[in-house]
Amino acid sequence: MQIHVKQGLIQEEDTELVVVNLFEGVSTPGGALKAVDQALNGLITQLIEEKDFRGRLGETHLIYSQGAMPAPRVLITGLGKAEIFDLDRARQAAAAAARRARKLGVSRYSTIVHGAGQGDLDYGRAAQAVVEGTFLGLYRFDGYDRDNKPEETGLGVSQVTVVEVDDSRLDSLRENASIGQVYGEATNWARDLANEPSNFLTPGELSRRVSERGQQAGLRVEVLGEAEMAEMGAGSFLGIAQGSDQEGQFIVLEHLPKGRNAGDLTTVVLVGKAITFDTGGISLKPKTNMWKMKNDMGGGGATAAALVATALLNLPIHAVGIIPATENMPSGRAIKPGDVLTAMNGKTVEIISTDAEGRQVLADALCYAQRFDPAAVVDIATLTGSIGIALGRKIAGLFCDNDELRGRLSDAGQLAGEPLWPMPIYKPYRKLIDSDVADMKNSGGAYGGAINAALFLKEFAEGYPWAHLDVAGASWQDEQGPYSVRGGTGYGTRLLIELLRGYGQE
Ligand code: BES
Ligand code: MN
Ligand code: ZN
Repeated sequence: MQIHVKQGLIQEEDTELVVVNLFEGVSTPGGALKAVDQALNGLITQLIEEKDFRGRLGETHLIYSQGAMPAPRVLITGLGKAEIFDLDRARQAAAAAARRARKLGVSRYSTIVHGAGQGDLDYGRAAQAVVEGTFLGLYRFDGYDRDNKPEETGLGVSQVTVVEVDDSRLDSLRENASIGQVYGEATNWARDLANEPSNFLTPGELSRRVSERGQQAGLRVEVLGEAEMAEMGAGSFLGIAQGSDQEGQFIVLEHLPKGRNAGDLTTVVLVGKAITFDTGGISLKPKTNMWKMKNDMGGGGATAAALVATALLNLPIHAVGIIPATENMPSGRAIKPGDVLTAMNGKTVEIISTDAEGRQVLADALCYAQRFDPAAVVDIATLTGSIGIALGRKIAGLFCDNDELRGRLSDAGQLAGEPLWPMPIYKPYRKLIDSDVADMKNSGGAYGGAINAALFLKEFAEGYPWAHLDVAGASWQDEQGPYSVRGGTGYGTRLLIELLRGYGQE
């Protein structure tokens, strides 16, 4: 989908549909809505008076211009109450409009920036949110549904023009619309990777797709196979990978702006769990819902997508993405409960559950991160069912003992519409993963499962400020949301881009 930006009057747009907006509770149209109302001889004033459209968030109302404007249709998208309007509501309103336009069979439409004049909302941020919401709202994954091909039925929005009347805002609009497109497309790519069935998205296929898109964006890409991993002593990762017929892949992405030295820039490392399918291994999962475990590479997908976006935005930082990718399978070669693995830092782990595989692959990746001498390392993982029980499907758990980094992540989550909630790395629980035969065991039981997992990871995140994001709840939705569909959400992509952008602004 193409995004265009132009200076002009929305009521004069010659296109299939124009999108304007209405705040809930407003009795007289203002701004762009007023201009459209005047062009339509007070039709919108009447609509509001009759209470046929109240401007609730997520609702849209279609009217016909009957020759009074060049565009045959006008769509009003509700913004909800003005007092509580924010960036996420701009995303939601834009997504609702985009979905309605698609349903109407519209391929090209023009819109204004929703909430542009609202309170202390930053214009550039609002413009970004509108474009972002448009991409997110239109997302769907139907790669294998032969009845549902937009390119064959002629459905699908192919071009959206964002119109701004104020000339002085055009530069900001141009810049932020393209930023919004980068955020939106990155998230949708992460969603595609998450929704892709694991028989197609093997570790090898994931590394091919990430390499291809990464290189196109200008990233340096390195993929280590199992032999190289063995040389490095990554026994924790390899222990998980050995049960699968698919070779494990250790993907390393690196962004360095042209002509800059890593030493002169802030280095931030992202680590993303990428289990392309988690059966649980010998500690086999129950069959109900097991299919959703194709999403167990969600953290790795978000990491790859955030790195690609970082390169496209050419952020002035040194960013590294580490994505340990493997399947977790039961087989004659699989590790068994009671086995002991040795990680890259020499620490030994007694495997209690082969289903606690995520922390095993992250352990070596966190050790590997040290070589970049990073200012911060953030890992993101669909790590525990517990975090979903604790925080539900909208919020991810934030484990971080460094105040500065935790603050940055919370702020990034807020801006991105991907909320994080602080969780404790509670030291007294460390004894729950004490082992009789090794340095630690890989499961501390069901109670406080997400905290025990964080305490485990901490053993490998040595020598740098570190945060762990447990996204097992938020990376999947069972129902359609304002700008997400059932399935993988690509959660974390936008907050990680936001985090890196923050480092680049200093
Ligand atoms: N991938 C799962 C966590 C998960 C559960 C993600 C539900 C998404 C939805 C992870 O590998 C896992 O199996 N964790 C175990 C850990 C336990 C064995 C210590 C869990 O949460 O039960
Ligand atoms: Mn598991
Ligand atoms: Zn898993």
